[in-house]
Amino acid sequence: MRAQVGIIGAGPAGMFLAHLLHAAGIKVVVLEQRDRAYVEGRVRAGVLEQTTVQLMHRLGIGARVAREGLVHAGTTLCVDGEPFHVDFADLTDGGAVTVYGQSEVMKDLNLAADDRGIRIIYGAANVTLDGLDGDHPAVSWTKGKTMRRLACDFVVGCDGYHGVSRASIPADQLKTFERVYPFGWLGILADVPPCNHELIYANHQRGFALASMRSPTRSRCYLQCAADDRVDEWSDERFWDEFSERIGASFTARIVRGPSFEKSIAPLRSFVCETMRWGRLFLAGDAAHIVPPTGAKGMNLAAADVIVLGEAFAAWYGAGDSSGLEDYPRRALDRIWKAERFSWWLTNLTHRFPHMDVFDRHMQIAELSYLKRSRAAQTAFAENYVGLPLDF
Ligand code: FAD
Ligand code: PHB
Repeated sequence: MRAQVGIIGAGPAGMFLAHLLHAAGIKVVVLEQRDRAYVEGRVRAGVLEQTTVQLMHRLGIGARVAREGLVHAGTTLCVDGEPFHVDFADLTDGGAVTVYGQSEVMKDLNLAADDRGIRIIYGAANVTLDGLDGDHPAVSWTKGKTMRRLACDFVVGCDGYHGVSRASIPADQLKTFERVYPFGWLGILADVPPCNHELIYANHQRGFALASMRSPTRSRCYLQCAADDRVDEWSDERFWDEFSERIGASFTARIVRGPSFEKSIAPLRSFVCETMRWGRLFLAGDAAHIVPPTGAKGMNLAAADVIVLGEAFAAWYGAGDSSGLEDYPRRALDRIWKAERFSWWLTNLTHRFPHMDVFDRHMQIAELSYLKRSRAAQTAFAENYVGLPLDF
């Protein structure tokens, strides 16, 4: 088989890129190790920046997010049960985010890929990349007992943190930075109305909690938990008891409890691989960087990466201009480090760390109290949360 660009991974980064390249007349093949139901069923991101929603419209897949997405022009932060509101629209000249699940984004991307004839090969096992440092890279994989091979001009690794693409770069060429946080997030989905019309980020002395949603009748709620906690240690009753305590008295009465139909624990990590290009391999999305979910930035960063990379490929295939491809890591990393900083800052501000002493706790409370009163501080928070413009 042959393609101009071979894409590894059919998550948000891979599929947004596939659509961008297809729209520019570039022939792509996407290889995904799991099946379509798995990719569409994964409950992960919930908050889309305006840039991401605009990308969906530009690609002609924005009808459903416009209809069903919940536009949030503000959020609530809560300190030991005391809430205060941050008005994004007022602070950022009409800025807002859209609450719309990653699985819905994936369904929209995949349905349009069917219509447009974008080739996605699911169930591709043992994916291996070769020839990346020459002019003729290739990707091999097995499907059942058959071994297949795709010859291409370029390979883009959109295969997440655990993928094969970054691992194909020689270790001595990789420049990476990492911070692992000493806790995780326990998340549930339940068909009960959310306890507030917007999200609530709660810093409580027992630990962080987040009230989010997927629709007016579906809640997505998170609790900071120990890094080694197991899902089966958290009954629904234990979850709701702890969530009610942390989210604060003003919302407790509005919590409607119900059985969870999804419950999982995610570790928290900050990670940047600055080697986003090696020979004819490019990395995008979680394959190149991870942020803790506190800032709601991961999927949005994946979309921003591939906007830049898509433009670069269009300039290369359209006009033989390689400057965009050469500049891709610099342009992408500029935004990535800012999102890393925001996600790290908000995680530090809202979570309970095992090493924290009374002084550290006072620092958190003082900063949140400042954020509550200062328009300047709220503006800095709001403009990062709704998303910095591309090339900020
Ligand atoms: P992935 O979604 O990881 O996709 C990679 C794909 O590659 C997968 O389908 C995988 O199966 C495939 N793959 C892996 N290895 C191989 C291989 N060897 N061969 C072939 N295919 C392979 N982000 C936000 O923007 N907003 C939020 O509100 C938000 N909340 C989150 C909440 C939680 C609890 C979590 C865990 C994450 C959250 N994120 C959020 C982050 C977001 O989900 C990720 O950043 C996003 O999924 C990254 O997309 P990606 O396409 O780069 O990687
Ligand atoms: C979610 O709804 O899943 C969500 C919302 C905000 C975050 C993280 C996750 O910061």
